[in-house]
Amino acid sequence: MTASAVEPAVIEELAGVVGPAHVLSDPEVTAGYTLDWTRRFAGSTPLVIRPGDTAETAAVLGVLAAARIPVVPQGGNTGLVGGSVPLAGEAVLSTRRLRSCEPVDELASQVTLGAGVTLAEAQAHAAGAGLSVGVDLAARDSATIGGMVATNAGGINVVRYGSMRAQVAGIEAVLADGSVVSHMAGLEKDNTGYDLEGLLAGSEGTLGIITRVRLRLHPVLSERATALLAFDTAADAVVAAAALRRTVASLRALEAVFCDAMTLVSQHLGVNPPVGTVSTGSASDGGLNALTPRTPGADGGAAWLVVEAAARADPSDELATAVADLGDLVTDAAVALDPGARQRLWAFREHVTEAISAAGIPHKLDVTLPAARLAEFTDGVTAVVRAADPHALPLLFGHLGDGNVHVNVLGPDGAEPAAGVDDAVLRYVADLGGSISAEHGIGTAKLAQLHLNRSEAELAAFAAIKRALDPAGLLNPNVLLP
Ligand code: FAD
Ligand code: MLT
Ligand code: ZN
Repeated sequence: MTASAVEPAVIEELAGVVGPAHVLSDPEVTAGYTLDWTRRFAGSTPLVIRPGDTAETAAVLGVLAAARIPVVPQGGNTGLVGGSVPLAGEAVLSTRRLRSCEPVDELASQVTLGAGVTLAEAQAHAAGAGLSVGVDLAARDSATIGGMVATNAGGINVVRYGSMRAQVAGIEAVLADGSVVSHMAGLEKDNTGYDLEGLLAGSEGTLGIITRVRLRLHPVLSERATALLAFDTAADAVVAAAALRRTVASLRALEAVFCDAMTLVSQHLGVNPPVGTVSTGSASDGGLNALTPRTPGADGGAAWLVVEAAARADPSDELATAVADLGDLVTDAAVALDPGARQRLWAFREHVTEAISAAGIPHKLDVTLPAARLAEFTDGVTAVVRAADPHALPLLFGHLGDGNVHVNVLGPDGAEPAAGVDDAVLRYVADLGGSISAEHGIGTAKLAQLHLNRSEAELAAFAAIKRALDPAGLLNPNVLLP
């Protein structure tokens, strides 16, 4: 679809719904909506439409359905699988004006938010009532609540509170034909039929456009202790992570940064971690080329864990005891209690994505492994990557407490790696019994590999659900479903 392919009458009708200022067609203005965060996925669009509430969203979808114009819903555009941008000339429906923040329902510990509210705004709003949002991630200033539900986002606190789907107590959404489904009472027990909210969570904009979300909130746990632990090998870090999950009742985050990723983020930050030794290069002689992929089959090199405990009462003794119980497994540890010092430890984990993006355009392979195969994977994946592209550099980090490893792969000089890398790694994951998408979704990036995790019968059920809710295939048509 090109701009000229959209009838002026349709543009006029849309402008009548949302106001002319919110129907954008100037390519200079729409450009920001057509390139994804990673810069790997780029497309074009004739129109960006920015409705201000559910009723406007419903009317917009009604107009688009009548004109048979496909549409990509977009929130903060921080998605990492190419699902939020119009790759085949679709219209874009931006949710960023859906910004209502209703008062926190303190009796229920819930809040109703517009889909375009950012995570950081939601966190600040909840904090005003002494409560917190259960999901947190580094893209918090841009990622929207609607986008996070649509991708069933994970982040750094899943080990404590579960992913986004678990936070959802109600959803309002507009279906492809413009009808509105709204189930917002937030009742903790409600067995009245199909779980539409659960279905929309993780549907990546293919079944409906989420306009409002009712979120469960959690008590603020203001006493925190954060540790950065260094290990000689990735396998040691995996063993330690399993032990910490068993022993730290106040565990709030259990994150990992492996060898080359730590080198890169240290170079990016201009400071080395206070514990452990980065593999090669340094802040001063750094650059991507200072990193050399390790020998295939090597033990995965050094590794670090960021461990955070949080409670109403100081959890530092509990964390210190659990770390001491790890014995010689840990080579060194740094512990921080005050917010500034904790943030300095977190920086080595939180800035990895940004450091990789500054170094090039990675292929982002976000996977989960069964606990029993995790160490085998962290040891073996480098060889799998290099068999597919001898010049590629795999950078490993992630949410180790959830068995979730982010394998980001860069080609030489930051270019994209050979296309076969994705397939090789994802097949390896599936062979080990893991998931090819832990938290980012399928998007466009992993469409070709969905069959590795889903049977023919499951894919047929997916297709039947899609046909039932979006018979003309207008909602995010190039995403999730093969
Ligand atoms: P977008 O990128 O705009 O859209 C993502 C998908 O959802 C698209 O398919 C889109 O069509 C659909 N969509 C968006 N809004 C709606 C809506 N209202 N209704 C229906 N469909 C919609 N993800 C994690 O899970 N864990 C992390 O730890 C994490 N860390 C990140 C760190 C960085 C630095 C970055 C850049 C990204 C990170 N992400 C992480 C990925 C990203 O932030 C999440 O996927 C997030 O949920 C996307 O939200 P968004 O508003 O940006 O959605
Ligand atoms: C993160 O956990 O930092 C993001 O989900 C990961 C990524 O950049 O792959
Ligand atoms: Zn992540």
